[in-house]
Amino acid sequence: MIARLDAAPKVTGQARYAVDHNFPGMVYGYLVLSTIANGELAAMEVAAAREAPGVLRVYTPFEPLELHTPISQMLGESWVPLQDKEIAYYGQPIGFVVAETFEAARDAASLIEVSYTERPALTSFRDGLATAEDGKTGPRGAPSQSVLAEGVESIEDALAASEVTVDATYETASQNHAAMEPHSAVAVWNADGLTVYTGNQGSHGPADELAQALNIEHSAVRVVNPYVGGAFGGKGRTSTPAFLAAAAARDLGCPVKAALTREQVFTATANRPATVQRISLGAREDGTLVAVRHDAWSSTPMSRSFIEPTSHGTSREWYATENLAISQKAVPLNIPQTTFMRAPGEAPGSFALESAVDELAVALHMDPIALRKRNNSTAPPGEDLQWSSKHLDECFDIGAARFGWSQRTPGGRVDGDWLVGLGTATAMFPGLRFPATVGITLRADDTAEIATSGADPGTGLLTVLSLIGAESLDIPPERVTPQLGDSALPPGGTSGGSTATASAGSATMVAAATVIDELLRLASSPGGPFDGREATYADGRVFADGESMTFGEVLRAMDQTSLATTGSTAPGEERTKHSFGSWGAQFCEVRVHRLTREIRVSRLLGVFDAGRIINPKAARSQLLGGMIWGVSAALHEGLDVEENGRFANADLAGYLVPVNADIPEIDIHLVEYPDTLLSDVGARGLGEISIVGVAAAIANAVYNATGIRLRRIPMMLEDLLED
Ligand code: MOS
Repeated sequence: MIARLDAAPKVTGQARYAVDHNFPGMVYGYLVLSTIANGELAAMEVAAAREAPGVLRVYTPFEPLELHTPISQMLGESWVPLQDKEIAYYGQPIGFVVAETFEAARDAASLIEVSYTERPALTSFRDGLATAEDGKTGPRGAPSQSVLAEGVESIEDALAASEVTVDATYETASQNHAAMEPHSAVAVWNADGLTVYTGNQGSHGPADELAQALNIEHSAVRVVNPYVGGAFGGKGRTSTPAFLAAAAARDLGCPVKAALTREQVFTATANRPATVQRISLGAREDGTLVAVRHDAWSSTPMSRSFIEPTSHGTSREWYATENLAISQKAVPLNIPQTTFMRAPGEAPGSFALESAVDELAVALHMDPIALRKRNNSTAPPGEDLQWSSKHLDECFDIGAARFGWSQRTPGGRVDGDWLVGLGTATAMFPGLRFPATVGITLRADDTAEIATSGADPGTGLLTVLSLIGAESLDIPPERVTPQLGDSALPPGGTSGGSTATASAGSATMVAAATVIDELLRLASSPGGPFDGREATYADGRVFADGESMTFGEVLRAMDQTSLATTGSTAPGEERTKHSFGSWGAQFCEVRVHRLTREIRVSRLLGVFDAGRIINPKAARSQLLGGMIWGVSAALHEGLDVEENGRFANADLAGYLVPVNADIPEIDIHLVEYPDTLLSDVGARGLGEISIVGVAAAIANAVYNATGIRLRRIPMMLEDLLED
């Protein structure tokens, strides 16, 4: 267990984020956003802005910067700013003012007068449900699916034949990632090409996208992001400031810095969609699930950039059932882009499914844990591929004992003015990995460098790299220097989908094995210190015939300063043999005030099965963060769209996230079963699983305390007022 290597630089202010990079002659860009949600730009009066003190240039769709639509459509979205006059949402970037100072650019931006040809905007998700379209477009979108038992004609028949059924509709709010670091970029051109300092989730992706947008060679673009102040899916794609700073720096011939204001982050980036989900469950009297139906609707912008894959992401993979039907619909609205956000699909999906399972437990007069254990799946319904490793029942057993679940009574208990209830829910997240390449360099001073282009946006990947590198090279972690956050490094380790540890970690193991082979070959080669003798490696040393030398000594003996190789891994065969998922049991105690109806989360426990744990300290902090996100989704977060498409609460005063006083002591426990079927590292990743199920556990606890079932998050006091 070690503290994160980036901890000290971050807390002492030494860490340099994108906007901390400064260059001689650098100028500043400020974004202008639309104030209508649907229509066309008729004119933009920019003369006053252009003449304002310190202003260098004003870019608009009438006088655009040269930016091409990237073909790669990274993450399903290819939009680049300022290229057309169509307005599809309130807060869409429509201008970019560049001046000698940030203040001058901002002041000048306020002088621009915009006129529009306005069209009626569709901004209400509820109204849009009537015109929902098939949601098979976009990343993770998928056509309807059903699995039916022999002789069963339809899911309706299966539900009708069930002894006990539950049928309910749930709603979840649109959310913003609200990372502490707003999206920003500093772009510098020189003789070799372009360097952009910009926070992201893996620098090779934006480097590729910028090369396409600027129509230059891939090799001429370098993206650097040594420190990232949070991402959560919201920094997967190249940000608007990065596109604009890069293009403006080329046009103006000087470095350009651009950063979004906090308010601009809410509309000039992308958000998690809102969802409506209808769930029908059918069971036998003994609790055996026989039918699961999950119909989902997701908000999406007019560009259909992303739909929240709740039904496909949740119900298919959670419980054993003979009959299953899932569908996904998209509701296009005049709202900002939507995208991946921490546990996309599973986070809001689990609120619906795991609330419905609790409702079924009530209908069956059954303990909710017993109901979940009865329906534990060994493979996704309708598939033969068994889970590689699943210890969910053990998570529930340990959790029930730690949390005092046996003291729960069906009606909760009363403590003075507070109604106290307990709730539980399952957590699940798919086990994934992505292609990754990692470079290892052995140095003559007996140190090693491990490098890959991915990012550590707060996840702990930098430290994980040094730990896995040290273990693979059989040397202490102090002698390993990990490097991330530069597209000039070997490509890999994208921080998304809870994959970085399994992806970059397994590539590190391959690279280490390769570099050790090379080292041994070198040592035994003609003229080498072990010329012609069979050599072996252990403990950072090369051995032959009872003699040994450190790898640094071997390199020095050969007059080499270093020895470098790369190693690559990619998902492959394993997915034809097993299904992969991480698992967890969430436990929650809430206190609801008898009169004010205030909901306080008073205790939380999460027990997780996520394969091997590389760094217990960082793992725990990742899991804590996710569980806090779950509380936030249940009680605080939600974007409110006004009729004209403006967000009513697009700042951190109105967009609520929890503060210390909202969060109790959180207990976390890990059962540790290394999953070497997924990758040699044995880890399945844990950045996302711990958010999953928390909101349902809270709603289930509120029901236990009050007898009131809340089917919409964030929960409001008024939802708990009795008529
Ligand atoms: Mo994420 S939503 O795993 O980038």
